Amino acid sequence: MCGIFGTISDNAVNDTLKALKCLEYRGYDSAGIAVKNGKDIRLFKTAGRVENLQADLPSDLYGCTAIGHTRWATHGEVCANNAHPFYSYDRNFAVVHNGIIENYLSLKYNLTASGVNFTSQTDSETVAHLLAKYYEGDVLQAVVSTANRLQGSFAIVIESVYDGNLYAVKNKSPLVVGVTDNGAYLCSDIRCISRWADKVAVTPDNVIVVANRSGVKFYGFDGEPVPVKFFSVDKAEEEASVDGDFMLKEIMEVPDKVRQAKKGYIECGGLNLPAKTVHRIKRVYLVGCGTAYNSGLEVAAVSRQMMDIDVIPVIASEFIYDSYPVDSYTLAFLISQSGETADTIRAAERIRQQGGFTYAVTNTVTSSLSFVCDKVINIRADAEYAVASTKAYNCQLVTLTLLMTDLAYLKGTIGEETRNKVFDAMDGLGSAIDKILSDSYEISRLAEEVKDSSAVFFIGKRADYPTACEGSLKLKEISYIHSEAYPAGELKHGTLALMEQGVTVIAIACDSDLLDKIASSVSEVATRKARVICVTPYSVDNATLIKIPVVNRLLYGIVSVVPLQLLSYYVAKRLNRDVDKPRNLAKSVTVE
Ligand code: F6R
Repeated sequence: MCGIFGTISDNAVNDTLKALKCLEYRGYDSAGIAVKNGKDIRLFKTAGRVENLQADLPSDLYGCTAIGHTRWATHGEVCANNAHPFYSYDRNFAVVHNGIIENYLSLKYNLTASGVNFTSQTDSETVAHLLAKYYEGDVLQAVVSTANRLQGSFAIVIESVYDGNLYAVKNKSPLVVGVTDNGAYLCSDIRCISRWADKVAVTPDNVIVVANRSGVKFYGFDGEPVPVKFFSVDKAEEEASVDGDFMLKEIMEVPDKVRQAKKGYIECGGLNLPAKTVHRIKRVYLVGCGTAYNSGLEVAAVSRQMMDIDVIPVIASEFIYDSYPVDSYTLAFLISQSGETADTIRAAERIRQQGGFTYAVTNTVTSSLSFVCDKVINIRADAEYAVASTKAYNCQLVTLTLLMTDLAYLKGTIGEETRNKVFDAMDGLGSAIDKILSDSYEISRLAEEVKDSSAVFFIGKRADYPTACEGSLKLKEISYIHSEAYPAGELKHGTLALMEQGVTVIAIACDSDLLDKIASSVSEVATRKARVICVTPYSVDNATLIKIPVVNRLLYGIVSVVPLQLLSYYVAKRLNRDVDKPRNLAKSVTVE
């Protein structure tokens, strides 16, 4: 992960600090800046947040060229020494890096053998030293030689004392380049530079960038120029701020965003695949990571009730290495809020190479994933800042459910009446969720009981099981309470051994066909003295109920997750956790 930035501009220091604040969602273990002033590079870095860095900077820090970094630690513990930027051993270069240099150990070994001292445990520092080693009077040549030694994923921004240029090297990690009338911006995320840049370009893989006041040039790793297109972008609004926590604000936005997602789906023409493609499809993959995977899991369970072709949810990092069959009969929905998740992008690349049709379902239509896929749809959740994803999950479910309903209809496995019923029923979801949010006091009270649990198990059956998975993920990532999700029937095959006083079980019981079955599971755990909470529109014995409104049976997942999002939030708050930036995590996971 990590956020990288570089600029040549009149306000380089201020612009870098602003950009780092915007990039902090990509990692907040440490932050740093290196500013070129005359012949020297002045470098400052610190463990912790950008605000710590800002507080430490001298008031006379000035320069027109700067690079900056926010870190999510991969190699080496969280400390100032492992923070970026890194100087080369002669202090003539400084670099920031996002990604993983997979061959860094052998590079480090050779550099150390030739007398170079390393100041950090990171893979990234090798890049700075290689640049110094290869410099023989031509910075571009040193960058080309260095780029050719690196294996893995990297977006690296480089400044040197030798000229006024910024250089960058890109393979598999995101790097966008923005230009103004007399400056340039290099960054991991378009959103963080679009307030300044008039035009931006998405840098392709295996490309070197050279930027200065008069423009930007692109070269291949062979040093030959390559053409890259710039496009206009809308100016981003200033970074959003919030009184309180983004996570709560984003949960409160769910009703509106769910309405917006459906409207957006209709406006953009929906599934919009040629009839020939639809007829060929024999297999559908729903691929994503974390919350995005859970949305695939949920929609697969719903879709199996509408169509008889294979609908298979897969975790992206598993898809890459396993032998899931892909051919021209395959349609894959690649689900990603950020569109920058490395595993999901790799899966998309593999599916395309093998002849499958790739369809990005994302909140960021300008993302790397969108450029890799054959087709893109916007889930219309609007910017999500809290690391724990909430409203994006609900919007993924809305968009995917509509896509799969249209697919089932076009394939003739459901009729027009059923299709229209699902579409119409979507319109009632916003007010059902509004009702849950307006009754949130009871959930906040329950959080007081849940917060001291020794463990929390979430259970559900069929389409309620993915909701259990998402509830469990949300709780563990922001409260740090150990939590797992199970299909309810699995408890008796081992996990029942853990049931005792102090354990909480949260059952999701929205599937009326399976109410008796889930009620038996609830009774089994209650008998073993676990506290049981049940999210349901019905009545269930032996449990404290969180009642939700009745909605269309295929759409419960979009609604029943909301009390779980709220419960996680309130539990984490009661435990004094940093809900928007939980430990060890980042919003965008750009390493495999
Ligand atoms: C959990 C969470 C993560 C993301 C996952 C994929 O709350 O946010 O599990 O869902 O890292 O991210 P995207 O959707 O950006 O690909």
